[in-house]
Amino acid sequence: MSSTPQRVVITGASSGIGEELAKQLASRESSLVLVARRKDRLLSVEDKCRALGADTKIIEADVGVSDHCQRIISESVEHLGGIDVLILNAGISHKSTVDSWDSPELAELLMNVNYFGVVRCVYHALDHLKQSKGVITVISSLQGKAGFPGSAAYAASKHALHGFFDSLRSELVSHGVAVSMVCPGPVDTQINLRPANAPGVMSVSDCAERIIAATDRREREVIMTVGGKLANYLKPFVPGLIDSYIRKRLDDFYNPS
Ligand SMILES: NC(=O)c1ccc[n+]([C@@H]2O[C@H](COP(=O)([O-])OP(=O)(O)OC[C@H]3O[C@@H](n4cnc5c(N)ncnc54)[C@H](OP(=O)(O)O)[C@@H]3O)[C@@H](O)[C@H]2O)c1
Repeated sequence: MSSTPQRVVITGASSGIGEELAKQLASRESSLVLVARRKDRLLSVEDKCRALGADTKIIEADVGVSDHCQRIISESVEHLGGIDVLILNAGISHKSTVDSWDSPELAELLMNVNYFGVVRCVYHALDHLKQSKGVITVISSLQGKAGFPGSAAYAASKHALHGFFDSLRSELVSHGVAVSMVCPGPVDTQINLRPANAPGVMSVSDCAERIIAATDRREREVIMTVGGKLANYLKPFVPGLIDSYIRKRLDDFYNPS
């Protein structure tokens, strides 16, 4: 994002990282469209953004529903006159081993929101992003780059994003549209079910700052932790060692001393 005012759509803006992105962008005089299901929370974020001087509109919608995604983009364009930055952040999480699932439909639920919800929104926004030579910023996860025990459905939905957007990025090069994939580690939000003293949790404000910086620079991919960067680099050479490393880190995370 340049420092000139931008027209920004943020999905999942009612709490956590999306809410913080909205507030930080509001202080840069961006025009914002904020999307989520919980209207009361959206109204509260809208108030805060307007108090910071930003033209703000909310859209109550579920990215898990195809028609809603089309409406998100058409109402955004109607309000903003176009889209410079599309931040695809809405997501849900789930933690349990596959052998304890009630049914495999759990994987469909995660895929429907975290993957298809993103694909639907970007599909409807493509022409507008080409017109503005804009940026698509996708909030993936370290779990989009490696497998994590207890997170198979979530990790799969985030991995799928990388295959989709690595392909779409190449399709969009000649149109001047950038794709930034952002992979945070654990961030201090409600999605992150963890003990209070778990180590290595990033603050939501640091995370949002880094997402905005990545968007400004139109960076291809940002892996937000040193361990994540190292694991991603070494995984093709020593995959078993990286699996053990992740298991050990998870054990330290969920059972801090
Ligand atoms: N926190 C972490 O440790 C962490 C780490 C890596 C990646 N991430 C990713 O960061 C993103 C934001 O998560 P967060 O940590 O900020 O958690 P959060 O506070 O739970 O935020 C999730 C946001 O997504 C929205 N959302 C969920 N399902 C939706 C749906 N079907 N339609 C529309 N909006 C929906 C929620 O709003 P409503 O409930 O109001 O719809 C909320 O605004 C997610 O994609 C997550 O996977 C988080």
